[in-house]
Amino acid sequence: MNAQLSREIRLKNRPDGLPSESDFELAEVAVPLVGDGEILVQNIYMSVDPYMRGRMVDRKSYVPPFQLNQPLDGGCVGRVVESNIDQFQVGDFVLGRSGWREYFISNGTGLVKIDPNVAPIQAYLGTVGMPGLTAYVGLLDIGKPKEGETVFVSAAAGAVGSIVCQIAKLKGCKVLGSAGSDEKVSWLLEEAGVDAAFNYKKVDNIIAEVGKQCPKGIDVYFENVGGVHLQAALEHMNTYGRVVMCGAISMYNATKPVPGPPNLFYATSKQLTLQGFIVSDHLGKLPQFYADMGKWLADSQIKWKETIVEGLENAPQAFIGLFTGNNFGKMIVKVGD
Ligand SMILES: NC(=O)c1ccc[n+]([C@@H]2O[C@H](COP(=O)([O-])OP(=O)(O)OC[C@H]3O[C@@H](n4cnc5c(N)ncnc54)[C@H](OP(=O)(O)O)[C@@H]3O)[C@@H](O)[C@H]2O)c1
Repeated sequence: MNAQLSREIRLKNRPDGLPSESDFELAEVAVPLVGDGEILVQNIYMSVDPYMRGRMVDRKSYVPPFQLNQPLDGGCVGRVVESNIDQFQVGDFVLGRSGWREYFISNGTGLVKIDPNVAPIQAYLGTVGMPGLTAYVGLLDIGKPKEGETVFVSAAAGAVGSIVCQIAKLKGCKVLGSAGSDEKVSWLLEEAGVDAAFNYKKVDNIIAEVGKQCPKGIDVYFENVGGVHLQAALEHMNTYGRVVMCGAISMYNATKPVPGPPNLFYATSKQLTLQGFIVSDHLGKLPQFYADMGKWLADSQIKWKETIVEGLENAPQAFIGLFTGNNFGKMIVKVGD
């Protein structure tokens, strides 16, 4: 072992309800020496994502649960600082899955070199990364919007939602977005170019508001939130509408099972398609996504917001902030330079 130290965040307790900072622990470990066929990466940015809440529960799911007293992991972007692998040079930027720590050793498996000339490196955790692909696949492959149709997006100013809104506009749809602050609503209207948006925390009745804003009904609902948002969408879906079941963040901290929407029978009477998906099952779409997103970015047709929290020690707070809407666009933690 050499003298270099790396800080990491570990899961101390499995949270009950909304996580608190005391559920996490900051620890220091020595950085191991770099062996043959290995590289040392210094993380610069790491991602906090809503799905990580599910991994804090000890249950079988599409990703294994985090282990207690072990460092968490997740998307990260870093710089190669030592290399014993020909394909990686010192100074290369890489996208990996070893977030929540300052340094990590890798044999290169699962690491992707990224080009800082295409987009700022942290965007590989957002618009040109997993959330961007989620928006792309979810809207286009599952939602299948047609020109002139109405698309309703919840958590519309978030990492996924903000990109869904703009791709739907590029496809010639009418777009309604729901978000949790007036500032987010203004950005959606003025920058993202949606047709209508509302602050769900300020309206008296979300169901009535969605009806008012979608006089021709909804053809595609991009579901990020669950609860009343799903109920509102079902209420106003058109026949043969598609509900893209991407996420349900309002339910992730529930301490007991949350009942489904009372109007679910509309799925039958309106002949709706409700389809869930997990982005990691659609990695085959990456080349097409990079091609389309690269063009849209080059043409300034997609805009994005990001909230950058400074310091690994503040990663738990950044993560918890996802559940109170502290992020505007992608929530990212800066862990190094
Ligand atoms: N299926 C997949 O493969 C996949 C992949 C990535 C993400 N997702 C899902 O997509 C959704 C968005 O993820 P993201 O990474 O883009 O996060 P995000 O939207 O950037 O951040 C979460 C946002 O959710 C909103 N929110 C939090 N609690 C809420 C509540 N109780 N009611 C309504 N809104 C609430 C907040 O915005 P406001 O200020 O608007 O409240 C917050 O900013 C999540 O449900 C996530 O699990 C799914």
